[in-house]
Amino acid sequence: MLIAQISDCHVTASGTAYAQALTTEALENAVRHLNLMAPEPDIVLVTGDIADAGRKEEYEKAASILNRLKAPYLLTPGNHDHRARLRAAFPDHGYLYAEHQNAPIRYSIDAMPVRLVGLDSTRPGEHGGGLDRDDLHWLENSLQDDRPALVFMHHPPFGVGIGNMDAEPFANAHEFETILNGAPHVLRLCCGHMHRAVQRGFGGRNACIAPSTGLQLELNLTSGAPSRFMLEPGGLALHYLDERNWEPLEMVTHFGLIPGCGHSFAGPYPFFDVVSPV
Ligand SMILES: [Fe+2]
Repeated sequence: MLIAQISDCHVTASGTAYAQALTTEALENAVRHLNLMAPEPDIVLVTGDIADAGRKEEYEKAASILNRLKAPYLLTPGNHDHRARLRAAFPDHGYLYAEHQNAPIRYSIDAMPVRLVGLDSTRPGEHGGGLDRDDLHWLENSLQDDRPALVFMHHPPFGVGIGNMDAEPFANAHEFETILNGAPHVLRLCCGHMHRAVQRGFGGRNACIAPSTGLQLELNLTSGAPSRFMLEPGGLALHYLDERNWEPLEMVTHFGLIPGCGHSFAGPYPFFDVVSPV
């Protein structure tokens, strides 16, 4: 099973975010890249900040691009998103449905060998994230049996050492960690928000943060790191498992780069079958 993850698309109606990043074209590149992959992903997770300012026209643009994906895809919101407008732009995504359009977007899907549990870590009006008691209770119920699961959401529940991004603690991180400590069948926690590929342990699980498709935050591991971005290549994460042959069942995560927006990568060239001169 191959689960692709893209994140922090920050689509704008003009095509450009923060006067520099061609984020709309970058999402087009990502979709093209995913559609050409062999093997094809079984599903694509989009872990938030789909739109840059939560505007209707941004979601319409994002939907027109994401709907070109050959694989099915699941959406979870980020702090730049607007729950009701996101729901409205993806009417075919029944799992987004809630009686109240501004209710948290959370769901559990059992159609694959791994249960996919999407959480809503956003707190409307705030940049930082967290999970409230209701979210945590819902999650505990969703993980009650021992079925292998992947949990995904926008905000990572821990700091990463980049000063400005660590300034806002994740609400109820300890309670969330306690739930994961009691759920060894969670194979991976997948997040976004940091616009960089990052890994860390959390609650006894391996947590992976996928890079942005369109703009990467400056890799500045100081407490005073300002909020700045780099036009490094867009990226994605690939979560792979061989559910028929791997015992015990484990998940492996690869991080890849996406060509386009001025970035191209030479190769591939032969490697293992070249005799090195000594
Ligand atoms: Fe973002």
